[in-house]
Amino acid sequence: MSGTGEFEPSEARLRQKHATKWRHVPDDVLPAWVAETDFDLCPAIAEAIASVIDRGDLGYPDWTHEPLAVPFAERMAERHGWDLDPGLVRRTCDLVQAMQVVTELCTHRGDAVALHAPNYPPFLHALETMGRRPVFSPMEPVGETWGFDAERLDRAVAGAGVKLLLLVNPHNPTGRALTRPELEAIADIASRYDLVVLSDELHAELTFDGHDHIPFASLGDDAARRTVTITSATKSFNLGGMRTAVAHVGDERVRAAWDRLPSEMLGSHHVLGVEATLAAWRHGDGWLERQRAHLQAQRDHLVARVADLPGIELRSPDATYLAWLDCRRAALDGDAAEYFRSRARVELSPGPIFGPGGDGHARLNFGTGRAILDQIVDRITGSLASR
Ligand SMILES: Cc1ncc(COP(=O)(O)O)c(C=O)c1O
Repeated sequence: MSGTGEFEPSEARLRQKHATKWRHVPDDVLPAWVAETDFDLCPAIAEAIASVIDRGDLGYPDWTHEPLAVPFAERMAERHGWDLDPGLVRRTCDLVQAMQVVTELCTHRGDAVALHAPNYPPFLHALETMGRRPVFSPMEPVGETWGFDAERLDRAVAGAGVKLLLLVNPHNPTGRALTRPELEAIADIASRYDLVVLSDELHAELTFDGHDHIPFASLGDDAARRTVTITSATKSFNLGGMRTAVAHVGDERVRAAWDRLPSEMLGSHHVLGVEATLAAWRHGDGWLERQRAHLQAQRDHLVARVADLPGIELRSPDATYLAWLDCRRAALDGDAAEYFRSRARVELSPGPIFGPGGDGHARLNFGTGRAILDQIVDRITGSLASR
């Protein structure tokens, strides 16, 4: 299977990579698990990194100011009409770090944190190791898509004494991009119970036609004042190894606590991570748009093919390259990901690690070429037919 075209990677080349997606699996398994894509680097990023290397420029950086603060503010204004103060932007190595820092700064052991379920596994794990009580708001099938019950969330927040609400929008694993009314319902709850909102908007730039990404902090002054927005170029440009992210800390209480931390305690950005992110944000939009169109076509193709799989359901994601497969009606033997690993030689992310609502599900990453995606679905089809 050798790909051609900008978003048609060759399997042989992918198997030479050191990153975990392809390294983690045996040679006869096709990986569709961890959230990274299989495409070559955006050329503008490759050039920016090469020019740092050419200059031998890996000494201590001259960052008198946060190097990503103004570029981030410009990007949010341009893409989403969100006008923010770059002075409120803080550096962070990655989103999981930022989530743990904010959780540590505004809650104590035993405190309740509200979030949708299922959810991104490292967040669930962090809450557990940090001794915080998760209060789940289930994402449930609503017609052809996913939704949540805001009144139920309201009651849960009131009953559990929640202090922090962790929002993942677009949502992982369902790929839902929440609408303005849904976000406003959350903002209303946050305001009435004086919650800090931690808004993970990492997948925002991979939102498909017909859907908009609305930054939570852009909803209004009250939302802006109680929200910490975390993001990076990691998902849209596949830079997971770069460890470079930003946090817009709109909440004054969190910001004061953040700024009291010793300056090096949270680590710092890597020179190459900053160069890569700047190149992505300043020169990568043409590539990003072509990638988004490819991913949207991949999504549509996958939805059509899954419709032919007996007992497997997929609600078309609004954003992301992740497909949340409901395998419950297929009556598989044991966990779905385990079933497909052993019978189809395809590696998916197991549903149960995403918490409540994950049983009987598996997450499939379609951020690859058409030829590889077709092989993945062919193998799954074959494993279901041969039972
Ligand atoms: C919703 C979400 N948040 C955070 C992360 C991880 O981000 P980081 O690598 O910056 O910690 C992921 C990675 O898949 C994700 O899907």
